[in-house]
Amino acid sequence: TKRVAILISGGGSNMVKLVDSMVGDHPARPCLVLSNVAGAGGLARAQALGVPTEVVDHRDFKGDREGFEKTLISRIDGHAPDIIALAGFMRILTPLFIDHFAGRMLNIHPSLLPKYRGLNTHARAIEARDAEAGCTVHEVTAELDGGPILGQARVPVLPDDTPDSLAARVLEQEHRLYPAVLRRFAQGERGLLQL
Ligand code: GAR
Repeated sequence: TKRVAILISGGGSNMVKLVDSMVGDHPARPCLVLSNVAGAGGLARAQALGVPTEVVDHRDFKGDREGFEKTLISRIDGHAPDIIALAGFMRILTPLFIDHFAGRMLNIHPSLLPKYRGLNTHARAIEARDAEAGCTVHEVTAELDGGPILGQARVPVLPDDTPDSLAARVLEQEHRLYPAVLRRFAQGERGLLQL
């Protein structure tokens, strides 16, 4: 059975869907939910689900990114995960961290990559008058939001959409896509999943 560490910064709705999916004959189980924000809503949700939690607050490191990432690595390694799933983890990671977990780290991003790396993806899709938007699960490499794509799901952009209304429509698809890709990844499948 593969062990999965999930990294969050916020409410953790994707984390909950991942944890809920890892039951029965699933090839993986959650071993850790870690947040870089002490008050993140997802921490209480993880505790309620019986998953061990940790906090590594980046603010304690006062701009010392290397110290932050070294601490992150040792706290994560303490739980011996096989797979690291970033789920709304809102810190940019450097090669120090990424190389340590090379080949076993996933991220979900709220756009149809390679479009709209970075932030404010929904506002940018609306501004560009895109007909569709969506989400992507990809392997994490040193290039921001640039690693191999493992899965995508699409939604229409509607005429009256705001960034919030579009985000809500995309988030529903994130909740379907991420558990599906994680299961395949835990089984060693690396092909592209289109939902
Ligand atoms: C999700 O929409 C996720 O795709 C996004 O943050 C949200 C977290 O929601 N991630 C990024 O923007 C990564 N740059 P959640 O905490 O409810 O899962």
